[in-house]
Amino acid sequence: MSISAIIAAAGSGERFGAGIPKALIQLADRTLLEHAVSSLAPVVDQIIVTAPAGFEKQISELLGDGIVVVTGGATRSASVRNGLAVATGDYVLVHDAARALASTDLATRVIAQLHNGEVAVVPALAVVDTIKVTNSDGFVVSTPDRATLVSIQTPQGFKTSALRDAHASASEATDDAALIEEAGGKVKVIRGEERAIKITTPADLNTALSHLGLGKEIRSGIGTDAHAFGAGRQMWLAGLHWPDEQGVEGHSDGDVAAHAICDALFAATGLGDLGSNFGTDRPEYAGASGTRLMQECAALVKKEGFSISNVSVQIIGNRPKIGKRRAEAIAAISSALGGVQVSVSATTTDGMGLTGEGKGIAAIATALVSKQ
Ligand code: CTP
Ligand code: MG
Repeated sequence: MSISAIIAAAGSGERFGAGIPKALIQLADRTLLEHAVSSLAPVVDQIIVTAPAGFEKQISELLGDGIVVVTGGATRSASVRNGLAVATGDYVLVHDAARALASTDLATRVIAQLHNGEVAVVPALAVVDTIKVTNSDGFVVSTPDRATLVSIQTPQGFKTSALRDAHASASEATDDAALIEEAGGKVKVIRGEERAIKITTPADLNTALSHLGLGKEIRSGIGTDAHAFGAGRQMWLAGLHWPDEQGVEGHSDGDVAAHAICDALFAATGLGDLGSNFGTDRPEYAGASGTRLMQECAALVKKEGFSISNVSVQIIGNRPKIGKRRAEAIAAISSALGGVQVSVSATTTDGMGLTGEGKGIAAIATALVSKQ
């Protein structure tokens, strides 16, 4: 028995809002349409793609020889009918390019049911929400028993002659099985798959990426630093010079905010800490400014394949008063880190401890980094 596949790809992708047909949206290394074609190609004899008017040539070139491209219609049903007109198989799978990640295994299980003699086969998942029937006035009409409800996917499989008859007698439905139902035909339901979700909005792309094992890896890190005030030292804090303030001891400029941020970033990426990266065994960093350390640290984070989502630092001490220069401090840190989102806050410790007694200054920072 020969099998054709019709991949409906003629929609405009209004809800996705990319300004190009949804089937041509890129997901990882290829377009949604190419994903759909590569899943069905191993198990069917003919592939027909319905293209949006004006995109026939582009799609034909993208998919190469051996794929039949027809112009889609104004509705999905009309597009499928255009595909059916050129289908040569005894059986036909009708699939949405938007369900790009439906697997070859799912198509194989649909085909197995057709081999068993079924005329129409649909994959489905149980629904998790309670579904209600509503009227046009915005009121609930009824609440069907959830246990009887399923959410329908593609590829759907049909005896080609049965689907042709169904399309000839009824015309519009959001899936093909509905037309068979209207004609009184039996539709067999089989288990669908999570990865066969219909990609409708940009947020769905992230879900699809995670099905491909390409979701974002997100990590957080924490860092602290403290220095005692020292006579005759300049005060450097949060990448800024504070000319009227007493500075702190240390072999660097003693920028506790910058040091805490570097520690948080190293912790998030698992790259050790300030000491292991810029410590005394690395003489080239002796006396390096906080700004230079943040620049070097950001470069190491990037080299490790991470991008910085945001950094937050809190300065703990009686002086200097941060408020008036907060915007400047945020800008200095952000620019040292390559333009990332930064927040800077400050607090005192009610007269207690190193910072409260005015002996020094401390900072605590968190960082969030992510990797594709
Ligand atoms: N489709 C089609 N012909 C149409 C309309 C839709 O071939 N006239 C296809 C789409 O390309 C998609 C599938 O049917 O692969 C399911 O439709 P949907 O997810 O609604 O896609 P779009 O219509 O492109 O999206 P939107 O409704 O947001 O515009
Ligand atoms: Mg649509």
